[in-house]
Amino acid sequence: MLKSHSCGELNKKYAGKKVTLAGWVDRRRDHGRLIFIDLRDREGIVQVAFNPEVSDQCHKTANELRNEYVVRVSGEVTFRPPGTENPKLATGDIEIIAQDVEILNPSETPPFYINEDIEVEEGLRLKYRYLDLRRARMQANLLLRHRVVKFIRNFLEAKGFIEIETPILIKSTPEGARDYLVPSRRHAGRFYALPQSPQQLKQLLMVAGVEKYFQIARCFRDEDTRADRQPEFTQLDLEMSFIEQDDILDLFEGLFTSMVETAKPEGPAIKPFPRLTYADAMERYGTDKPDLRFGLEIGDLTDIAAQSDFSIFRSVVDKGGKIKGICAPGCATYTRKQLDELNRVVRELGAEGLITMALGTTTGSLDNLTLDMVRSVAAKFLSLGQIKEMAERLGAEMGDQLLIIAGKPEIVNVALGELRGEMGHRLKLAKPNLFAFTFIVNFPLLKRDEATGQWGPMHHPFTAPRDEDVPLLDTTPEKVRGKHYDMVCNGYEIAGGSLRIYTSHLQRKIFKLLGYSDEEVKENFGHLLEAFDYGAPPHGGVAAGIDRMVMILAGEETIREVIAFPKSQTATDLIFNAPSPVTEEQLAELHLRLREEL
Ligand code: AMO
Repeated sequence: MLKSHSCGELNKKYAGKKVTLAGWVDRRRDHGRLIFIDLRDREGIVQVAFNPEVSDQCHKTANELRNEYVVRVSGEVTFRPPGTENPKLATGDIEIIAQDVEILNPSETPPFYINEDIEVEEGLRLKYRYLDLRRARMQANLLLRHRVVKFIRNFLEAKGFIEIETPILIKSTPEGARDYLVPSRRHAGRFYALPQSPQQLKQLLMVAGVEKYFQIARCFRDEDTRADRQPEFTQLDLEMSFIEQDDILDLFEGLFTSMVETAKPEGPAIKPFPRLTYADAMERYGTDKPDLRFGLEIGDLTDIAAQSDFSIFRSVVDKGGKIKGICAPGCATYTRKQLDELNRVVRELGAEGLITMALGTTTGSLDNLTLDMVRSVAAKFLSLGQIKEMAERLGAEMGDQLLIIAGKPEIVNVALGELRGEMGHRLKLAKPNLFAFTFIVNFPLLKRDEATGQWGPMHHPFTAPRDEDVPLLDTTPEKVRGKHYDMVCNGYEIAGGSLRIYTSHLQRKIFKLLGYSDEEVKENFGHLLEAFDYGAPPHGGVAAGIDRMVMILAGEETIREVIAFPKSQTATDLIFNAPSPVTEEQLAELHLRLREEL
């Protein structure tokens, strides 16, 4: 090794010891006679002092040093002079008095500061990702991700799982996104598809008798990039045989609570994870991925509103609609502009508009509320009793603002769910260092495409319907519930999975309902149906987004911060400038010709 110690490991205990360090110049300070550098390596930063009385040669070299130069320094660890200690630095009690220094490699001036955690344009960060990753925050994220993955491997190994790699060059898998295709040189006009997930392969592994499989699996989906979505991402993919739903949920609850305890001891996960049905989640939170770090539950006011003289409420009730709301605590003094902004949020989601109700201006008990203290277009059509009843149902006090939406039940729920998220964010209601997991269960098996009327899978076509609902497949498919579950944390969908169909006749029936022709079924899923006929065991599984989980643990807002080399928002790799053109020869080899207009 070119170094005897790491910069960050040194402390008082090493005083008097001679060490050799190697790393990057984080900062240089010239005090005339004395020159100081902060030397940085992966483990941290330590101060090195260059004193011409100790070594004139070293002092001269130190003059040449600039940020990000790679250097090797030898010297003695000494206590810093009293009063010059730096309590912010782990190594702040000591410094190295340089006796020897060597520039291993100089550096150009970096395009952004590496020694400060300041906002830098993302394109620049991604182009110079190797510099971006030198920053302390990114180093910490890389380490955290490594620890999380290592933790998962140890945990699952102890539970009897084995890790198996599945191929990347396979065939189109129906997970709902577009495929990335790879043209074949040896088979003209044919393509591989990169897996959107190892779904069918892990099911085949169950038929193969593996019983407990997992994989840290790379998945590829050609869909629009978002803060929590990348075209290429990593799943903890898992499948088990001879299980019931609770076996998977209990396993995941154990895995994720221990993971949080290990990675973030200061922020334990709330146990046990609440289990919400899909219908309940939509009713109470307006989303199937609710953030349970705060309350603000949606309350149903339809029965109270139906008694009022307010025409908007009455006409919605007459049409079978719902009137529901949430309480925005302490927001009674919101200005027209602020309320207009909230109105815009719900209109974008298809709601007719927002009915707001400010309860007085000061805080206090609802007992003190009088009708003239209520500011709302609906106030003059409601009695004080009705207003108080609505407020109580939403858990409101004086000084709060009720946000109410009337309309079709689905639109009301979704719009209020969005509003709940928005208010939680604005009012910073989510407690920091809290990991609020929840399982969502009892999803409908199918959803209908509004435009075509065609049934599609809520999750994927391999999810088993609940046994008691199977007869409904022939009569009322919309009522069939699936054996599907999601795991949510802090408002993000972390994992999804299901118990699977494992007989070919039920799987065929589902494919048929989904509109696949016999030909398509044979062509796309013949292998799976055939496998099911060779003694497929009952099985089920789940997959969790590693990028999303690490993002939450790291307190980051996008998964790009926890992926070493992510794609940009337009799905490009800014280091390699990929995707990029290829030569005519390469195209010819692959039996491809580009369209003229390209
Ligand atoms: P699903 O499609 O729900 O299930 O994916 C599982 C989890 O993977 C993560 N995820 C993503 N993360 C980053 N970028 C993306 N584009 C992206 N898409 C999904 C999410 C999600 O919850 N084969 C099934 C699992 C199963 O049934 O066992 C599947 O892939 O955290």
